[in-house]
Amino acid sequence: MRARPAAHAFVVLGATGDLATRKLLPALYHLSADHGLETVVLGGGTRDLGDEEFRRRSREALTAAGYGGEAAAAWCSRHLHYFPLPADGNFGPLASRLAALEAQHSLPGNRVLYLALPPQAFPAAISGLGAAGLAHSRGWTRLVIEKPFGSDLATAGALNELVHHHFTEDQVFRIDHYLGKETVQNLLVFRFANPLFEASWNRDRVARVEITVAEDSGVGTRGRYYDGAGAIRDMLQSHLTQLLTLVAMEAPVSMAADAVRAEKVKVLRSIRPLDPAAVVLGQYAAGGGTAPTLPAYRDLDGVAPGSNTPTYAAATLFVDNWRWQGIPFHLRTGKGMRERLTQVAVTFRPPPVCLYHGRSDPCVAHSNVLYLDLQPDEGFRLEIEVKEPGPTSRLRTVPLRFAYAEAFGRVPEAYETLLLDVVEGDQTLFVHADEVEESWRLYQPLLDSDLPVHAYPAGSWGPAAARDLLLDAPNWAAGG
Ligand code: BG6
Repeated sequence: MRARPAAHAFVVLGATGDLATRKLLPALYHLSADHGLETVVLGGGTRDLGDEEFRRRSREALTAAGYGGEAAAAWCSRHLHYFPLPADGNFGPLASRLAALEAQHSLPGNRVLYLALPPQAFPAAISGLGAAGLAHSRGWTRLVIEKPFGSDLATAGALNELVHHHFTEDQVFRIDHYLGKETVQNLLVFRFANPLFEASWNRDRVARVEITVAEDSGVGTRGRYYDGAGAIRDMLQSHLTQLLTLVAMEAPVSMAADAVRAEKVKVLRSIRPLDPAAVVLGQYAAGGGTAPTLPAYRDLDGVAPGSNTPTYAAATLFVDNWRWQGIPFHLRTGKGMRERLTQVAVTFRPPPVCLYHGRSDPCVAHSNVLYLDLQPDEGFRLEIEVKEPGPTSRLRTVPLRFAYAEAFGRVPEAYETLLLDVVEGDQTLFVHADEVEESWRLYQPLLDSDLPVHAYPAGSWGPAAARDLLLDAPNWAAGG
């Protein structure tokens, strides 16, 4: 059992935004109700709201998240407060309000400062917090920063410098919410608690790795943000690269944050400089396939006319180290895809000698494939070969399956896990300054290149050009 986390104030800048209402408040409520989290929320935002209006909106957000009852309403009244941020960027008045709330609720001075803001607002917010003396308090102070952290190598470096001017690295929690997903954490458990698999987890046994984060939804109402970001900055540099590090890293000396994050950085440093010729970019056009009604990306509000921002990216990477030399890691992500699927597929090498022959095949030497399904149907399946019964030597591929839902029921939301870790001061599932810069370094050549962006119909598996480039990814070809 985890010890009860320390009482604290939770300051959310961007408190009326989408992230705060859809994810943070429901997670905080759930943690308070089920894990005894003692939190007092001070929402900050540019809207001129009072406490009561903020509580009313928050009650609506909790209801939408499935927490409708009296208890949730009472929690909002007792624990939520709001402070309209002055337009001049001076956080002095926020600091005074926070101190008053801490006195009112008899809090010991522990503080979470959460930047649930658009990325371009991070620098001013960090400077403002520092200038108002909010980087330190009587208790602990932790700064949580959402992704994307910077928009390229130079801006990420500058942002790290600014952060470190006011905060020490052990106060900083850079969020990549994929790391909070149970199934993503399970990647390490799967590998390092099951020596059976770990013994085969290398270039001698593995032929290739495919990492897919496909979304069937489009960009929706986020056109303004997304048009400046695109699939490389929004997904590839962060979520997919984090998944790659977990699949490829060496066993850490312990599960302590420093040990785990050091191994992830080593993977990033071993990745061969990205060849833009091994990358395909795409943008979804009006719906076809499984998404006949999805409007074209270019028709969305906030998207520049004729925009060339990619909504799809596929890239092949190589990890040039002892374990993975020569093994392709195919990464792909897209919006407006045929289905929602986050998956790591590890294809093992086929048998070295062909002993079984099919009717027409000269040789049936299937590879075992391990599919780690991270969402939506969390679990895994391992494809193995069995003999078909009867007087035949024909083989059939059958799955060995495990489903999280059958074994465990409700799986916690990523933000529940991450917020609890922030309050407990555990940085294992957060991105270190070195990691974020290494991953931008990796994609900088791609950001600097002028690759064509191929159109694909929404509801498909992306541009045909990706299939031509990634012929070595048969699982994708099977997917479409
Ligand atoms: C976010 C991206 O970080 O992750 C979104 O900004 C994306 O564009 C989302 O839709 C996907 O997260 P999940 O948890 O729904 O897979």
